[in-house]
Amino acid sequence: MSIALRARSGVWGSRTTFVLALTTSAIGLGNLWRFPYLLGENGGALFLMVYLATLFLVAVPVMIAEVVIGSHGRADPMSSLLYASKHSGTFAAWSVIGWIMGIAALLILAYYSVVAGWGLAYVQKMDSGVFGDASAATVGQLFIDFLADPEALVYWQSIFIILTFAISGLGIHRGLGVLFWFAIPLLLVLLGVLIIFNLQYGDMEKAGEFLFSSVSFDFTARSVLIAMGHAFFTLSVGVGVGIAFGAYAPDKLPIGRTVIAVAVLDSFVAIAAGLAIFPIVFAANLEPSMGPGLMFVSLPYAFGNMPQGETYGLLFFVLVSVIALGSAVALAETPMAYLVERMRLRRPVAAVLLGAVVWLLALSCALSFNQWSEVYFYESLTLFQLLDRLTVEFLLPVAALLTTLYVGYALRREVLRVELYRETNNFFFLWRACLRYIAPPAILVIMLAASIEIL
Ligand code: PFF
Repeated sequence: MSIALRARSGVWGSRTTFVLALTTSAIGLGNLWRFPYLLGENGGALFLMVYLATLFLVAVPVMIAEVVIGSHGRADPMSSLLYASKHSGTFAAWSVIGWIMGIAALLILAYYSVVAGWGLAYVQKMDSGVFGDASAATVGQLFIDFLADPEALVYWQSIFIILTFAISGLGIHRGLGVLFWFAIPLLLVLLGVLIIFNLQYGDMEKAGEFLFSSVSFDFTARSVLIAMGHAFFTLSVGVGVGIAFGAYAPDKLPIGRTVIAVAVLDSFVAIAAGLAIFPIVFAANLEPSMGPGLMFVSLPYAFGNMPQGETYGLLFFVLVSVIALGSAVALAETPMAYLVERMRLRRPVAAVLLGAVVWLLALSCALSFNQWSEVYFYESLTLFQLLDRLTVEFLLPVAALLTTLYVGYALRREVLRVELYRETNNFFFLWRACLRYIAPPAILVIMLAASIEIL
């Protein structure tokens, strides 16, 4: 095992790189694509509040716990879990958490690549000028036609998967954080451009009401589960990224404050995306609950109708793709680290293997929008929807629940305190209280209430 060999100073080089890497994994399609359409489907403000509450009370403490495990074990997620168990004299069986995380990461990566492929395709569409002065109905129809074309979907997602595993296989992903010095600030600027456009052409008032004060009638126990699941998804909790990155954390990292800062920035981007998208949705009489197409219809429509919009639009979708790539490389890290560090495969070999698995899964997901659109699984879900629900509404909450119990109850307090030595006693006390007494019952009650409602 490589634990003893790994330098305590970490390979991230500096604290900034580590923070950027974590931010890179957090900010992605979840903020720009997933969050707005979930808000639309689940009726706005109440959803936003539950999302924020579960993000800070449940997802943040679990992410801190993941980084603590990684920083303690200094190895791939599975080995770090085993090491922590041994060191605290608890059962090795807890490492089952690593399996759940690895499987969740692979399944998410499959449908994530499909949507990231849409992002790449829209770079080309923006460049072709098809959205110039187009009506909202035309832009909507273009999206529907695009989804009906399996070859186009498979082409773009294949490019995305190749890029992801090339970066991961070559092991240059740690340098990827640097790219985000540019990508994330630029993305914020472009979201700002959209918001300014909305001040003139969008329906800001309706969007503001929808986002911050609407009373929803669609809000159910399942909406709470979806909000919590999304809090995990957006912060990359429950797939082992915290453990994998924590293994390289620099020595003097204030882990708690770092994770909180990432969560704040992540939410800021999500809310900015909401402010960029919903005023257009209301002004153009689009349906807020139209589902996964929300971003791919509302934003091209806006770009198509603003001065220099095509240039902005092109840049926007390039950034969406780059940012999705950062998240995808992070997602690949748990299964990659397992194959490389425990199975002793060479990195490029592991990348080809995992890339092939993800490609096949993603292929089935893409077909669920066209040729397999009538093939239903449990409760009339297409494969794409099934993977999304299985991961976000089941695997991530289960992985998070087990992590709270493991770190909150099974690991020795002194071990945790050492890893969080940069935080105050009060912070440590509050974090551990969240892990022991708030997060586990919250996750359990939310999952149970939603399953009773579904059954
Ligand atoms: N947090 C990413 C997003 O919001 O798009 C998705 C993600 C990335 C989830 C990496 C999990 C992960 F490990």
